[in-house]
Amino acid sequence: MTAQLIDGVALSRDIRAQVGQRAAAMAAAGRRPGLAVILVGDDPASAVYVRNKVKACEEHGLHSVLERYDASLSEAALLARVAALNADPSIHGILVQMPLPPHIDAHKVIEAIATAKDVDGFSVHSAGCLMAGLPGLRPATPYGCMQLIDSTGRSLRGQHAVVIGRSNTVGKPMALLLLQAHATVTVCHSATPDLSVHTRQADVVVVAVGRRDTLRADMVKPGAVVIDVGMNRNDAGKLCGDVDFPAVREALGSNGWITPVPGGVGPMTITMLLVNTLQAAEATP
Ligand code: GUN
Repeated sequence: MTAQLIDGVALSRDIRAQVGQRAAAMAAAGRRPGLAVILVGDDPASAVYVRNKVKACEEHGLHSVLERYDASLSEAALLARVAALNADPSIHGILVQMPLPPHIDAHKVIEAIATAKDVDGFSVHSAGCLMAGLPGLRPATPYGCMQLIDSTGRSLRGQHAVVIGRSNTVGKPMALLLLQAHATVTVCHSATPDLSVHTRQADVVVVAVGRRDTLRADMVKPGAVVIDVGMNRNDAGKLCGDVDFPAVREALGSNGWITPVPGGVGPMTITMLLVNTLQAAEATP
């Protein structure tokens, strides 16, 4: 018997329906939640991502603005746009799509976004709130992973969670969210000599590395929960994650849970961006 699937599409549908209801309630009171998305340059993958974000807003009653700029846009001009959106009362969330062209300091841009509108949760302030256990906007991908784990009905209290990857956008905030949920957390990364020493002990494994087959069948404990954040292409050009999905699903057995790629973490990332935008709008006096 193979592990049960954690269906990110179905969970997204449920959460987005709630977002739609909350957005409608706000709109009925005369305040429509608004998201501004800025894309600089013509990276095709980024163009698809931002289009999907704007489309999701439109489908769930949120106001959205997409601003597209040529890759030659100056850092000063981008900072001026961010400042204007900070002051715009119809905008509650600002997302500047990464990566930015090399002549723009991404850190400076992220820090220019008003704290209350930082729906990516990437600013030092938002990261600090997460670290300190204070309320704030959480990065969408790890926030979505937490919803996926929660949907299995498993409590994280006292569980051993292993995060593979230490990025500022996924690995590090993921570890903090798991810690906040009372898991015992191990963070592994590219300098970890033997991943399997850790992953074989894990009740929950979150893989966010960007390399396929990072987690293989001999590396997991039967009954564990596996969350695959990866988005890669296999030799046939098919979308795949960081987990050897068929083999790991088998090794986890019927008490285990696993997210597919596509259809797991991916849809949840946009869903949690909508949740963050709504939260930002609801928190606006
Ligand atoms: N590029 C890829 N993912 C993201 C994201 O979640 N937010 C931003 N701002 N840029 C990204």
